[in-house]
Amino acid sequence: MSKLKMGIIGAGGIAQERHIPAYAGMSETVELAAVQDVDIDRAHAVSETFDIPHVFDDYKPLFEVVDAVTICTPNKFHSEIAIAALEAGVHVLCEKPMAITTKECEAMIAAAEKNDRLLSIAYHYRYMPEAKLAKEAILQGEIGEPLVTRVQAMRRRKVPGWGVFTNKDLQGGGSLIDFGCHLLDLALWLLDDPEPVEVIGRTYDRLSKTPGQVNDWGAFDHETFNVDDHVTSYITFKNGLSMQFECSWAANIKEDYTALSISGVDGGMDVYPFQLYQTKYGSVWNSQPNIPKERLSEGFVQAKNFVDSCIGEAELVVKPEQALKVTKLIEAIYKSSEEGSSIKITD
Ligand SMILES: NC(=O)c1ccc[n+]([C@@H]2O[C@H](COP(=O)([O-])OP(=O)(O)OC[C@H]3O[C@@H](n4cnc5c(N)ncnc54)[C@H](O)[C@@H]3O)[C@@H](O)[C@H]2O)c1
Repeated sequence: MSKLKMGIIGAGGIAQERHIPAYAGMSETVELAAVQDVDIDRAHAVSETFDIPHVFDDYKPLFEVVDAVTICTPNKFHSEIAIAALEAGVHVLCEKPMAITTKECEAMIAAAEKNDRLLSIAYHYRYMPEAKLAKEAILQGEIGEPLVTRVQAMRRRKVPGWGVFTNKDLQGGGSLIDFGCHLLDLALWLLDDPEPVEVIGRTYDRLSKTPGQVNDWGAFDHETFNVDDHVTSYITFKNGLSMQFECSWAANIKEDYTALSISGVDGGMDVYPFQLYQTKYGSVWNSQPNIPKERLSEGFVQAKNFVDSCIGEAELVVKPEQALKVTKLIEAIYKSSEEGSSIKITD
């Protein structure tokens, strides 16, 4: 069987640290065929380091030498490039978030359907062992019907000081669209894609707009910083579920932490670390698995699912319609904060 020819679009941090090494580690099914970046020197450097034969500064000619692409550009270009790839008959794995707006996501899905190509989004938290256990436990009825979910994706002083992460025009937002999106996606997936009905949100930027901040992830300019560094939200769903959500890049808290807990009718769970809370034999009862320390990286499992799906041997774990729902919520949280009122979500 011939190998899937993979193209990389945007040769920055995530391409070099996650996607390229993952594909390089599965050389029996995939071949890194081409790399493209508007910064042609970076594209050439990556081509040399990882032995990728074709190098481009424009994405259109790249589509002629590949079967699939992985899009790793700033968020503003996700939709445009994904649609162009799908129209050229190329499968797409796009970095998260799917795009900045719901409208862009819908156009991406329409292009995938029209051209009968696969489209997936790199929400890699779903491939963590804790997340898989949580999904399986919910499917097996361990917690019964979920009622209340709490999500916190908290960093104390980690505004990304590289790339364009603090530029609203290119990224669409800050801590929410960049980091909070992962936990929103994971929570919605665990809850079996409930339909949101109403969202209230508040965004903050005061810490990062203040000069002289301590920051663990490099330097950024507080004057040009124009995105959120801390976001809170309360979301209700058609089936009666509610979600308390919070994320930050910068907040005055003790330490970084990620938390996702679900309380259901018959039991509850924390995902990080994974624990089940039930009542048995007249007692409250907690259980936790031994998750092996040695594990495949999420980046590798994600890449394998995409490649195997492209060659017809697997089904995509992250469906574009699910990623669209994450963007819809992000859009509603930002809108709610701007307008100072809650936002009703319509179908
Ligand atoms: N899944 C994750 O956990 C995760 C982590 C980091 C970044 N990301 C996502 O990956 C994407 C890139 O992030 P990064 O950290 O690699 O950023 P980066 O700044 O390190 O790299 C982005 C690259 O894209 C190139 N580029 C810019 N515009 C382009 C265009 N129009 N066409 C082609 N190339 C273009 C830049 O020159 C740069 O080399 C973003 O969407 C980000 O949200 C995801």
